Amino acid sequence: MDVGQKLQGRSLLQITDLTDDELLYLLDLADVLKQEKGTGDSPRRLRGKNLALIFEKMSTRTRCACAVAASDEGGHTEFLTTQDIHLGKKESVADTARVLGRMFDGILFRGYKQETVSLLARHAGVPVWNGLTDDHHPTQAMADLMTVREHFGRLGGVKLVYVGDGRNNVATSLMLACAMVGMHFVNATPAALAPDDALVRWCADRARQHGGSSKVESDPSIAVADANVVYTDVWVSMGEEQQQAERLNLLQPYQVNTALMEKTGHMDDGQLIFLHCLPAFHDHNTEVTLDTGALEVTDAVFEGSFSRVFDQAENKMHTMKSLFVATAGN
Ligand code: CP
Ligand code: NVA
Repeated sequence: MDVGQKLQGRSLLQITDLTDDELLYLLDLADVLKQEKGTGDSPRRLRGKNLALIFEKMSTRTRCACAVAASDEGGHTEFLTTQDIHLGKKESVADTARVLGRMFDGILFRGYKQETVSLLARHAGVPVWNGLTDDHHPTQAMADLMTVREHFGRLGGVKLVYVGDGRNNVATSLMLACAMVGMHFVNATPAALAPDDALVRWCADRARQHGGSSKVESDPSIAVADANVVYTDVWVSMGEEQQQAERLNLLQPYQVNTALMEKTGHMDDGQLIFLHCLPAFHDHNTEVTLDTGALEVTDAVFEGSFSRVFDQAENKMHTMKSLFVATAGN
């Protein structure tokens, strides 16, 4: 059975549900689908397919990526929030999964507990995709790698430094994904927000097998030396609002600003990009700042010539499409 056939009917609850080859296969397919979108010539690989999108948390990119990806391929999506369905209130997750599985060809879940998306997958009988939980954001990592490869033409050997909350969903999935493709990954984060030891060891081992590396470094200035990609995320993730004061205190020294970008040594040679999964706090002068005014990235970096954040946002759609097509397509 080839890699594509093996993906049919599969769920994606975390990025390591894929083999390293399967991850690369999905990135290759996303590249093909992106090119094809430019020509407007799709064979409508999701024709007749209905996909349920369950959202407990807010979303702009992931929701829209799902809707457009499915529509481009002739499929239909149904957007369901916890205001719309009985999930977890009047009806268990397992019963909801069994009902939706009888009607839909796939289910994407965005919400709080990883256990909820696992339960959905266990009981639905159709592919279930994690569109972000407290612990993982695997579809984001796919878009991130696609964007890195678009710029550098390769993944192996590229140095990516994630700066900020080192144990959140985005950092975890990115750290795992970078290891799976042999990048050099550094998680620049304070000790209090460091990923757990087992994850760090797993990533270091897997990265080494592919000629890459993976480590944690508490000093952001040391971490970014020779970096090709500097990546950050919000300091306070959805559902963690109560930790805001503590986070701002811990992460202020981890702001991505011009001084930090200069420490990469690649400001002027085309060997540096800035990524952010978005949404981002980047400008004091808009209504969109934390009420403290703290920013994880300055406007000079966010709007800089090396910023690829909107390519990255677009690539969420192409990678989501590749996942849907490979696992639930005709
Ligand atoms: N990056 C990302 O997942 O964005 P949304 O929260 O808008 O879906
Ligand atoms: N870590 C962020 C990612 C948003 C896409 C959050 O969970 O809110």
